[in-house]
Amino acid sequence: MNCELLIPAAGSGRRMGSDRNKLLLPLLDKPILQWTIEAAIASSSISWIGVIGQPCDFADFKQIFVRLESPKPITLIQGGETRQESVSNGLKALPQTSKSVLIHDGARCLATPNLFDRCAEALQTYSGLIAAITVKDTIKIVHNRIVESTPDRHQLWAAQTPQGFSVKELKQAHLQAQELNWSVTDDAALFEKIGLPVQIVMGEETNLKITTPQDLAIAEFILRQRLQ
Ligand code: CTP
Ligand code: MG
Repeated sequence: MNCELLIPAAGSGRRMGSDRNKLLLPLLDKPILQWTIEAAIASSSISWIGVIGQPCDFADFKQIFVRLESPKPITLIQGGETRQESVSNGLKALPQTSKSVLIHDGARCLATPNLFDRCAEALQTYSGLIAAITVKDTIKIVHNRIVESTPDRHQLWAAQTPQGFSVKELKQAHLQAQELNWSVTDDAALFEKIGLPVQIVMGEETNLKITTPQDLAIAEFILRQRLQ
C-alpha cells in the first residue's frame, strides 16, 4: 500500500548542545537527516516525502536532496515553533489525494525500510498506529524526587516513530488541538485525547532518537555493525 511520509526536521537540537540543527551533524559519512530519508526512499510503500524544516536550514536540506537523486518526489515544508506546529504545517502541504500518512522524526535515522513497510501495511487496517517497544527498565512515578509509585511494566511501551494515521482524522485532531490549546509531544497523543484508537506496531530496539552526543556515538556503533 502506498502512503505519504512527513519527516519533522525543524528542531534546533538544544539537548545535543550543537550550534546548528542536530540533523545536519555528520553520522559516519553523511548528515543524520540523509540516513533517515534514505531509509524512506528504500521503503516500497512510501510514494511521496515531505521534509519539514526551518528556513535557515533549507539550503543544506536541498543539498542533501540533490545528493540523494531520489526517484520519489521530496517536498520541502516550513516548520513551526514546536514539533506539533511543524507536523500541522506538514499536513497542510500533503497532496490533496493523500488518504493516509506516516510521520517519522528526522532524528530517528536508524529506522529500517522494513519498519516503514510494516507500519504502512498496518495503516490498511488501522486509522491510528505507532511503532513502539516494550520497556526494559522498571519505571517510577516521581514527585519532588520522591518515588510515588511503580506502574506495572507489562503495560508500559516506549513510543517511537513512524506513527501512521488517516489524514482526515489527524487533520481534525490537529485543528481541535489548536482550538483548545493542547500541546503534545507526539501525534498519537492527539488521537488519545479525542478518544480514537491507536494500534501498536512492533518497533525496533535500534530505532533510537538521536538526542544527545551519546546517542550519536551509539548510532555510529550500530551503523558500523550493519555495514560490516
Ligand atoms: N521538530 C520539528 N519542529 C520543531 C521541533 C522539533 O520538526 N519545532 C522535529 C525535530 O527536528 C526532530 C523531531 O521533531 O526530528 C523530534 O524532536 P527532538 O528530538 O526533540 O529534536 P529537537 O527539538 O531538535 O531537539 P531538542 O528538543 O533537544 O532541542
Ligand atoms: Mg525537541
